[in-house]
Amino acid sequence: MLMNRVETALINSAPRRWLQRWYEVPWLRRLGGSLQPDARVLEIGCGPGYGTGLILQHFGAARVDALDLDPTMIARTRRRLADYGDRVHLHTGDAADLRTSISADDASYDAVFDFAIIHHIPNWRDAIAEVARVLRPGGRFYFDEVTARALARPTYRILFDHPTNDRFAAEQFRAELDRHNLHVGDRWLTPLGGDYVIGVAHRNAQARSPRPRTCLR
Ligand SMILES: C[S@@+](CC[C@H](N)C(=O)[O-])C[C@H]1O[C@@H](n2cnc3c(N)ncnc32)[C@H](O)[C@@H]1O
Repeated sequence: MLMNRVETALINSAPRRWLQRWYEVPWLRRLGGSLQPDARVLEIGCGPGYGTGLILQHFGAARVDALDLDPTMIARTRRRLADYGDRVHLHTGDAADLRTSISADDASYDAVFDFAIIHHIPNWRDAIAEVARVLRPGGRFYFDEVTARALARPTYRILFDHPTNDRFAAEQFRAELDRHNLHVGDRWLTPLGGDYVIGVAHRNAQARSPRPRTCLR
């Protein structure tokens, strides 16, 4: 679901940029570390692209594919990150269907970033399934999400537009990650008593199929 005018203004504001740079990124780095120098990264719901720049500067991504449902956000990101040239690839499309929106193959990314976007998606479980599908075994999912508890507060209900059905608590979000082989362990925190959830999940290596027995005589 697209942001309304109030949320668009907030997301483009200095306080949002401050929070992302000085709170979210340091926590995500502490919980998940930085990336290999050749890492290929996907950011879902990049908004105006400030977080995309932070992924390049602070996590050492070689290349970031950034996606947003809103073409005006993609246009802002394009302007903001023009100097990065080929290290940034931008796409307009739905994070809940990465095959259609960016033709993403299975296991094609070393890391996926979600800066506060999955709570905007009505079928949020599909977005998590897609994150799990496109991450390579051992890949990392860095997330910072808004829970049902925050969305139920008058400020959120009055000022912003979000899907209202089937939102998640921090524990439900984590359980859904687990169901898709994305394991958080103790790499998470729930700021403001559970209004938000910040963490890093690791994609488990897939169980190998048992090798066929060979019988040598
Ligand atoms: C709250 S903003 C966060 C923007 C940015 N990541 C940040 O933290 O500043 C949510 C963003 O997700 C985008 N969005 C909403 N639904 C989406 C979907 N299904 N697929 C991709 N992007 C989506 C919106 O257009 C918006 O830019």
